[in-house]
Formats: sequence, structure tokens, C-alpha cells
Amino acid sequence: MNQEQTPVLEMLDRFRKKNRGYFNIPAHHFETGISEKMKDVLGEKAYGIDVTETDGTDDLHCPEEAIEKAQKLAADLYGSDECWFLVNGSTCGNEAMVLSAAGPGEKIIISRDAHKSVLMGLILSGAHPIWIYPEFAERESPTAIITPGLIKKACAEHPDAKAVFLTSPSYYGICQPLKEIADICHGFGMPLLVDEAHGGHFRFHEAFPDDALSSGADVVVQSTHKTSGSLTQTSLLHLHSDLISRDRIDQSLKLVQSTSPSYVLMSSLDAARNQMAVNGRDLMDKAIKTAEYIRNGLRTAKGVYVFDEFKDRDPLRIAVSLRKTGIDGFRFQRLLFEKNITTEMADINYVLIIVSWGTTRDEADKLLEAVRRIASLRSSGKTKKEMIPSAEETYKVFRTEQRTSPREAWFSKKKKITLYEAENRIAGEMIVPYPPGIPAIYPGEVITEEIIRYLDKLRCLGASFHGVNDIDNMEIYVTEQP
Ligand SMILES: Cc1ncc(COP(=O)(O)O)c(C=O)c1O
Repeated sequence: MNQEQTPVLEMLDRFRKKNRGYFNIPAHHFETGISEKMKDVLGEKAYGIDVTETDGTDDLHCPEEAIEKAQKLAADLYGSDECWFLVNGSTCGNEAMVLSAAGPGEKIIISRDAHKSVLMGLILSGAHPIWIYPEFAERESPTAIITPGLIKKACAEHPDAKAVFLTSPSYYGICQPLKEIADICHGFGMPLLVDEAHGGHFRFHEAFPDDALSSGADVVVQSTHKTSGSLTQTSLLHLHSDLISRDRIDQSLKLVQSTSPSYVLMSSLDAARNQMAVNGRDLMDKAIKTAEYIRNGLRTAKGVYVFDEFKDRDPLRIAVSLRKTGIDGFRFQRLLFEKNITTEMADINYVLIIVSWGTTRDEADKLLEAVRRIASLRSSGKTKKEMIPSAEETYKVFRTEQRTSPREAWFSKKKKITLYEAENRIAGEMIVPYPPGIPAIYPGEVITEEIIRYLDKLRCLGASFHGVNDIDNMEIYVTEQP
């Protein structure tokens, strides 16, 4: 297909230029009704293409014209049979994947490091998760790995499971061995669903790991906004399989997507797909070179540890630690912010730096200078072995009993208690250190002393949480039935 086209963007431009009388929503009515404050900050142009489903603009929920064409172009570029534009992020893509695969009481095999949106899908669908717990590849790795053996065991023990759901790459850019895993799943007749929220750019440069679709995954979601240049909230959902019904995916998406999908967002997906098709390799090459420059600068700085052991990882994600100097990841992130630098994420050990083709050399130098300054104030000059970040500290996924399905726990009678009283109770909600958004506790799981201690440690270090309203008291809803 001719990837030079941008059907949605072109349709919107044509529509605007017709200058029709417009008696529809939205009320800002192109440029004429915009808040003056927004006009000052944003300008008017984005409002000019913020229209609704009307004659000539097509409809995301029943695409037949420009949106259908744009989705076909995306499927063609990414190598899928069918592609859907998402305007509620990969969040709604994960929900739809779970809803499409498994219904109430049915089993779905899921790696326990899944994003909280997978849990939201489980609550909506009523499916029962069969957890697999990742194992650590290297001592320092900020992400654990799902080995093919773990998948084989889970599929053999639960041949009635409807699908296998994995996250790859992780937030830190570390990939799972998807090719071998896909073969195993298919041997059991199960579709492999992959949350590739952080890997939508892999297709565009040979230095990246293989992407999920070319590794044999059946359904894949990608946050185009995170890695490939579209506006925040925009993602793609791809189907490349006969093992799962395309109509069920389509219907599930209708449950979880807005009935007023933003044309600004959809046109940005269209434009990002075009940008990647036409310039993707050059842009990624630029980003990789900038990341290498940063990585080299960090590696030679005293007291700084950069995680780059793992082969299948995204070179644009840099996990950097000052633990050798006694500074935890959260503190390191705050110190960088004081030096006017924001970073994507912190954990007990690491700060995560994300590089794009838009990152400038000047920014890279500012970052390196700031890290060197912070490290030099603290560095003893010697690396103490015990202070090298350990995976077990960074990446906590607790093995505990899933006593009821997440949906059952969610809808059960609940009461609020402090986390410190919650040992051995069944969680009625999730508690999620955010980012990365992997729930430490799922509804229906038994809360252990170990989990409580871990969350308390994160709280003391200044981590952010979803699901905890009152951080000081760490209150949580538990089921009334102990
Ligand atoms: C692994 C993973 N999956 C899914 C999501 C949700 O993606 P989105 O922000 O596009 O809704 C995130 C968000 O950070 C994520 O980290």
C-alpha cells in the first residue's frame, strides 16, 4: 500500500476547508468558541480538526471511509491482518484482549507482571487468572523473564485455558522470548496475546529486538504514543491469527472505547504511522545514537551503574542507578528534578531514562552533567559489590494465593482498613506502585506480611501509588468475608 497517504488527516483538512455551516458537537465550534486561555497556550489549529462523526468524517465504530483506509495502512505497515485505532490507550486494548479471550469463570494464563489494565479487563470479563511468575535472568536485571518452560508447564497444567497473556517488552525495555513461547502456545491451540505497549517501534530498526507480531503473537497492543510519535492516549490493536474471533475483538472494543473518539487523536495515529513508514529507520537511528552517547557518558561516570547486560532489550531505555553511592532510585529522580531534568520512572534502585529521536544533544549533555554532579557528591570511588542493585529488590512480584477471581472480590462486600491490619485478608481492590503500574496486590489475592512490608518501604521512599487514597494511613479495601 502507498504509505505516503494520511487518509484521516487529509479528510479532516478537506472537511475544514469546505467551510460548511456546522451544527454539530463539539461546542467549541472550530476556532470560534475556544477558551481564550487555551488559545494563548495551544493556538487554534488543533481545534480546527476537532470534529465529530457526521457526513464525510467516517466513524471509528463503523469505519467505511478514511478511518478504515488508515487502519488498513497501519495493518499493512505492522504486518497484521487487521488493525484497530485506539483512543483510550493500550489500557482499552488490554481490556479488549482479555474480554475477547475469556469470559466469566474461564481461565486465562497471565504473567503476574501485567499492567493494571489487564486487571481491569479481568474485572470486566470475570475470567480467572492463572498466574505465572517471572524468573530473574541476571542478578541486576530490573525485569524478570518468562521462560518457555514456565509457559509449557502452565499450558500443560491448564489445557482448558483460553489464551496466554504476556507483557513484552517491560517498561525497562526488556523482552520475553516470544518466538519460542508463541510456538508452545500454538502447540496447545492457545492464542498468545501480547501487551507490547512499550515496543511499537521495534519494527523500524534492526538494532531493536524482534517485534511481537513477527515473533508469532496472535493479538498485540502497542502504545504508539509512548514510542512512535502520536498523541498521548493513542494506541494500535493488531490481530494476526485465526485463533481468536475478529468480531469478538471488534465488539469488545465497542465496550471500552469512547463513543466520541477524538479526530485529533486519530489523525495523530495516522500521521505517526506515515512518519514511521517513511522515515522510521532514520529517526530510530538518530535516537539509538543519542542513547548510545548517553549510555557511554553514564558508564564512564564515577559511582554510576547502567544496566545493559541483557541482549533482548530496547536500546532507547536506560536504567541507571546510584545505589553504589547509597542513593535510591526515588531520591535520585528527585535530585535530577531539582536540576531541571525529568525522567520516566524510578524504583528502589533505578531511574529510567527514555530517549527518542526528538532528544537533543543539548538535553543529553545536561542529563550527563547532572548525573555526574549528583554522583560525585556522594561517590566513595569504590564499587561495593553488595550495593550493586539486585533484581529481587527492584522488581517485586509476590507469590500469594488468588482466593477469588478479581471480579468476585471487586463486587463483594468490602470494608476499609489500614494495610497494617490487613495481613491474611483478601484484597478488595488493587494497590499499584505507579509507574510501572504492576499491581502489588490484586483484588481476590491474600495480603501477606511481605507485601505489606514492601509497600511500606516504597511509601517511605516516596513512591507514587494508584489505589491508595490516603498514603500516610495506607488504607485498603478488603473483602468483608475473611
Ligand atoms: C506495560 C503497559 N501496558 C499498558 C499500559 C497502558 O498504556 P496506555 O497508557 O497507552 O493506556 C502501560 C502504561 O504505562 C504499560 O506500562
